[in-house]
Amino acid sequence: MINVAQFMAMQMPCQVYVEWFGFIQFCQDYFIGHNVPSPLVVEIGIHANLQRPFYKQFLNATHIGIDIDNKYGEPDILGDSRSKTTLMRLQQLLQSRDIDLLFIDGNHSYEIVKQDYETYGPLTRHIVAFHDTLSWRGVKRFWNELLLANPEYEFVNLGATGGAATGAHRCAARRGTGRRDAHRRRGGGKVRRALRPLR
Ligand SMILES: C[S@@+](CC[C@H](N)C(=O)[O-])C[C@H]1O[C@@H](n2cnc3c(N)ncnc32)[C@H](O)[C@@H]1O
Repeated sequence: MINVAQFMAMQMPCQVYVEWFGFIQFCQDYFIGHNVPSPLVVEIGIHANLQRPFYKQFLNATHIGIDIDNKYGEPDILGDSRSKTTLMRLQQLLQSRDIDLLFIDGNHSYEIVKQDYETYGPLTRHIVAFHDTLSWRGVKRFWNELLLANPEYEFVNLGATGGAATGAHRCAARRGTGRRDAHRRRGGGKVRRALRPLR
């Protein structure tokens, strides 16, 4: 259980308080339940990088931040999430390790959210989360498409206050089948073939 006083004492990222608390609690419960003591988190779009301390404090996570801009925070990878160089630099940092939690919060247009999911989703083993699944048209559209296309996944919308919400689904990338590598080589494609639900 998250220590509320500790949580409240920390500087908030660009999130609605209740929503962010619910999301971190959800992730903590999930990773404890799945015996992942030190998950690897990749966040696309870090802004001032204020999520990072929460991931460290409450999930004991390693955090890799990607951002196209370093005006407000210092991303581990400075670059456009759509560029091949960004993906290659992430792969270098991952050193074949899976992402445990992918948080998509960069450009909120439908096309780019979709591309971020298709690029980084197949590298993710446990949770894919999107910010603003209810309040931003492009994110909402892609989220709804995912819901309809993947009835086998478990979808949750967390802390939906005033239209803002973080949506997450649980998944696992296939390992050792060669499918994920083939997916990477193709540079995208049908993500739902590369992901399966966790049971
Ligand atoms: C809403 S802010 C992220 C907020 C942050 N996740 C938080 O919770 O505090 C969106 C960020 O995405 C970055 N961004 C926008 N388009 C991007 C792209 N194509 N690739 C990488 N970062 C992008 C912006 O520079 C900005 O910092």
